[in-house]
Amino acid sequence: MDVNRRTVLQAGGLVVVGGVVVACGSSSSADGSAAASSPAAPASSAAPETSAAGSSTPAAQGIASVSDVPVGGGLVIDDPAVVITQPTEGDFKAFTAICTHQGCLVSSVEGNEILCPCHGSRFSATDGSVIQGPATMPLQPAGIAVEGGSVILT
Ligand code: FES
Repeated sequence: MDVNRRTVLQAGGLVVVGGVVVACGSSSSADGSAAASSPAAPASSAAPETSAAGSSTPAAQGIASVSDVPVGGGLVIDDPAVVITQPTEGDFKAFTAICTHQGCLVSSVEGNEILCPCHGSRFSATDGSVIQGPATMPLQPAGIAVEGGSVILT
């Protein structure tokens, strides 16, 4: 995030420097038609560098080993905030690990129920639905795939 901001600031600095060059070139020479086209090229070439640095998101991310997710239980990961469950052997599910009541990170999965430690909400490890409040909204599903013994966030 900081690198991206720095990159943007540096790119912005280049644009400003280019703008100053344009201003100087047009005021010093009477025929500024050729000078006006050349500073436009560096400004447009700096923009793709900034956008390329900001769009470096991986397509898929391995977040756990299958062996870390017990049958009837689950695994809570805090970054990214995802809870992976295995309601029945070989059937993996994943949900956001942020409780829909007031935003606590869920703590564990026991007996196919996802538990929130803050106020006691319980969610189904099968579909994320509310089993016990105070939460009223289900946990949102997260996209996963199992590849080569790893759980991949898609
Ligand atoms: Fe989870 Fe309140 S934040 S039950």
